[in-house]
Amino acid sequence: MESHILASQLRCPNGAEASEVAQRMNEANRALNHKCIELLQLRASDSLLEIGPGNGAFVADIIDMANNISYMGLDWSAEMVAEAKRLNKRLVEQGRAQFQQGSSEQLPFEASSFNKVLAVHTLYFWENPGDHLAEVRRVMKPSSLFCIAFGDRSFMKELPFVPYGFNLYDEAEACTLLRSSGFQIIDTYQHEESGRSNTGDQVNKVINIIISKA
Ligand SMILES: C[S@@+](CC[C@H](N)C(=O)[O-])C[C@H]1O[C@@H](n2cnc3c(N)ncnc32)[C@H](O)[C@@H]1O
Repeated sequence: MESHILASQLRCPNGAEASEVAQRMNEANRALNHKCIELLQLRASDSLLEIGPGNGAFVADIIDMANNISYMGLDWSAEMVAEAKRLNKRLVEQGRAQFQQGSSEQLPFEASSFNKVLAVHTLYFWENPGDHLAEVRRVMKPSSLFCIAFGDRSFMKELPFVPYGFNLYDEAEACTLLRSSGFQIIDTYQHEESGRSNTGDQVNKVINIIISKA
């Protein structure tokens, strides 16, 4: 797939290629998602919002972390929302998982709705990240946890699709952004992994994971 097409598919999987792109993302990002899920310290009856879950491949892993977790996945891709609902049909029917189409720039939820929020590989696509973060903070209960994960600028800048609309950050820049949106940084991690990128090439990934409090 040409780089500019791959970039637009990663931003918002759409059309005939959406399903294949989602599968590739799941393979490329499995270990990272599992690390983030572990770091969220999920407890019984937590209500979690995930921004940009793609096809929701890791939702069952989230729900299995503790009793009575409620999961809401919000993605701006109609194709991903439909596929996530299909792949997680049983959990949706049981009322344990829900998926909605929308953007984190304007979250369709009331204030103080969630006590865990997860966003993996989505920050690059936010034109005014402060607006998205203000919305995330608004829907979080006081003292609840936000886990955001993104490839470090040093590693991402070498990837061929990145010039096509990705905004890059290093850990310090993202922490500054989070603090200026009112978040308190609790912990930062660097997740390093050799594996396939979305291009299918083998790469050494350097991913920042930041845990902050609303
Ligand atoms: C690169 S994929 C990452 C998918 C998944 N989180 C993973 O780790 O494999 C980005 C996903 O986030 C969605 N997305 C990006 N920014 C978003 C936003 N501001 N609001 C809702 N969905 C968003 C895209 O449609 C896409 O499904």
